[in-house]
Amino acid sequence: MPLNLVPALKNGPRVFAISSGKGGVGKTTLAVNLAYLFAEAGKKVLIFDGDLGLANVDILLGLIPRYHIGDVLEGRCRLEEILLEGPAGLLVLPASSGFASLTHLSEAQKLHLLGEFEELTAGLDWVFFDTPAGISENVLYFNLASQERLLICTPEPTALTDVYALIKVLYRRYGVKRFHLVVNWVRRPNQALEIYRQLLRVIERFLGSISLNFLGGIPFDRQVSEAVKAQRLLLSLYPEASASRAIRKIAADLSEVDIRPFEGGLQFFGRKIMGVCA
Ligand SMILES: Nc1ncnc2c1ncn2[C@@H]1O[C@H](COP(=O)(O)OP(=O)(O)O)[C@@H](O)[C@H]1O
Ligand SMILES: [Mg+2]
Repeated sequence: MPLNLVPALKNGPRVFAISSGKGGVGKTTLAVNLAYLFAEAGKKVLIFDGDLGLANVDILLGLIPRYHIGDVLEGRCRLEEILLEGPAGLLVLPASSGFASLTHLSEAQKLHLLGEFEELTAGLDWVFFDTPAGISENVLYFNLASQERLLICTPEPTALTDVYALIKVLYRRYGVKRFHLVVNWVRRPNQALEIYRQLLRVIERFLGSISLNFLGGIPFDRQVSEAVKAQRLLLSLYPEASASRAIRKIAADLSEVDIRPFEGGLQFFGRKIMGVCA
């Protein structure tokens, strides 16, 4: 059943990519819980699952997709018919094997999808892309199609070098200069800030003038994996868990970020995507 989307907002949605460099660091957990917080506050929120990994957004929320993007491309359904409705009316565009073919579309398919994207997101307040790990074409695609980039790393050295590699390619190849950082799995006070400073030092030394906004840390918390196993949202199952409190603080800071709306709305979003994947 197609979802009833509200009329277009004047300024269009705020579009954030959530990426990490390394897999398994908490992107999907943060993406769904952040999206839920904004949805609960009455905003129209879409989470676009661009990750084909195991812990997908739909699985994490206990949702069962009926269609995928391949069905849209082949004209069997509209993009909005793929949407699933999660807790608090949160909209989920589920990942699918069809998505892998997004980078190999014909001109006609690109135009078709572009029109569908524009219509779909016109009435939304927030769009979150849960991207795959690494620096693949799809990761760059989502990051370039977003107004802002939220990066996650953990105190593990490999997570740090992988997130640096993503910043480097987005800056050197595409001139992207603005990022936000969340450090997950922190085990002691100040550890998140130390990791942030460490990353900032490397960026300043090797890349130059990049803005890296520290959004905070999320502690290691067993209730996170318990919520994943229960296919429930951490924030609704354990609202007072230490990780839940940290995510609420990140959401509050995120809503204060001064974001410039896309000029020309999602047209711009679509064209950028098509440009990267051409
Ligand atoms: N702060 C945390 N404390 C404990 N476990 C966590 C935390 N963040 C994530 N996890 C666990 O790590 C695993 C990977 O998280 P996920 O959000 O799926 O990462 P990604 O999307 O980056 O691959 C999940 O099983 C989740 O339960
Ligand atoms: Mg994930």
